[in-house]
Amino acid sequence: MADNTARQLENDIPDLEAYWMPFTGNRYFKQHPRLISRAEGMYCYTHDGKQLLDAVAGLWCCNAGHCHPKIVEAIKEQAETLDYAMAFQLGHPTVFELANRLVDIAPEGIDYAFFVNSGSEAVDTALKMALAYHRTRGEGARTRLIGREKGYHGVGFGGISVGGLSPNRKMFGAMLPGVDHLPHTHHIDKNAYSKGQPEWGAHLADELENIVALHDPSTVAAVIIEPIAGSAGVLLPPRGYLEKVREICDRHGILLIFDEVICGFGRTGESFGAKRFGVTPDLMTAAKGLTSGTVPMGAVLASKDIYDTFMTGPEGAIEFFHGYTYSGHPLAAAAGCAALDVYLGEGLFDRAKDLEGKFEDALHSLKGEPNVIDIRNMGLIGAVELEPIEGQPTARAMQIFRDCYDNGVIIRTTGDTLAFSPPLIIEESQIETVVETVRTVLRAQ
Ligand SMILES: Cc1ncc(COP(=O)(O)O)c(C=O)c1O
Repeated sequence: MADNTARQLENDIPDLEAYWMPFTGNRYFKQHPRLISRAEGMYCYTHDGKQLLDAVAGLWCCNAGHCHPKIVEAIKEQAETLDYAMAFQLGHPTVFELANRLVDIAPEGIDYAFFVNSGSEAVDTALKMALAYHRTRGEGARTRLIGREKGYHGVGFGGISVGGLSPNRKMFGAMLPGVDHLPHTHHIDKNAYSKGQPEWGAHLADELENIVALHDPSTVAAVIIEPIAGSAGVLLPPRGYLEKVREICDRHGILLIFDEVICGFGRTGESFGAKRFGVTPDLMTAAKGLTSGTVPMGAVLASKDIYDTFMTGPEGAIEFFHGYTYSGHPLAAAAGCAALDVYLGEGLFDRAKDLEGKFEDALHSLKGEPNVIDIRNMGLIGAVELEPIEGQPTARAMQIFRDCYDNGVIIRTTGDTLAFSPPLIIEESQIETVVETVRTVLRAQ
């Protein structure tokens, strides 16, 4: 019965017109539809029965692989037991369990979890927490937020304001006032083909001193950066860079927010990028791997100092006027707990670290292939940057994406960079398949 249903779905394409797809060329897609109708482990299966090896874990999220039976079971059980519980003034046990378990794997000093439904909501929530924290402490003039060029922090107004990708900003007006940006750290003239953290560029953090001096520290609330920028093309922090940012923030009473939406849950070979780099922020965002991509959920993890600062005023009064109907939704919370069971029970964070060398060697073997101009990697995250076609930025990478799909592998592109972030269950032979497919496709251009 189940098989018949799957087959039927694979052959049936619904009318595609009504759905306005996100971050997609809608007209092209609807003429060349690529529908995934089911998935299992490392593989996705299309509507027309094609098997695809997933080299990006959905969208950097299905870290335990697709449809892991333990996560599926937990979601089913939760749906049968408690569909929803009012998120304000009421709670349910699973979300408290998840908060406890998340802070257990967070860096020391990060002791509280606030739940949201996506990475974008996590970012906007963290920015609001930073502003409200300073105001609650009597430093309400600290309203400036500092992001970074090439940063991606989702698509809320807060996130695009601190973000640094112009296509995501230019259509949407003035955005948040009082935002400044650090320079990006992507310099392949200095750091091409670095394995892990590049050697050159720690001094780029010094620009924070200049920005802070320009505005005066008393007006600056927070700095937000991704430990490894993902959506801008896998940009690793130069050695010593994150430490410098932390030190400058500390010196000026500025909060440091790490956007860990991509770096969390084993992607770097540790629970969070903060642990991998040994730098602890004041606030961390998480999403994606939090439920292994199964149910939408995000989180902001906060230091005790931040939480305690809010816990003043009359007992019983609301301390933070913020939250979502679906904050800590029971299905998401159950999926989050089950995902942690799988990650820890199956040793997947360690697995990512163990596979790092193999993944690195395989990716870097593409050096010298046509149009490859840089390769970068850490943990199970990697990128191959291509020379753009003159006058047609992004076109080359998009063609490689389409050709890889036709050859049975899903990769991701950002600009003219090919990005890789496979589920942490990937086998060595599957790493080979991904890289050899990319090689074949590059050579055929
Ligand atoms: C670093 C970072 N922050 C925020 C987001 C936004 O997450 P979402 O798409 O769940 O809103 C993303 C998504 O890729 C991300 O990479």
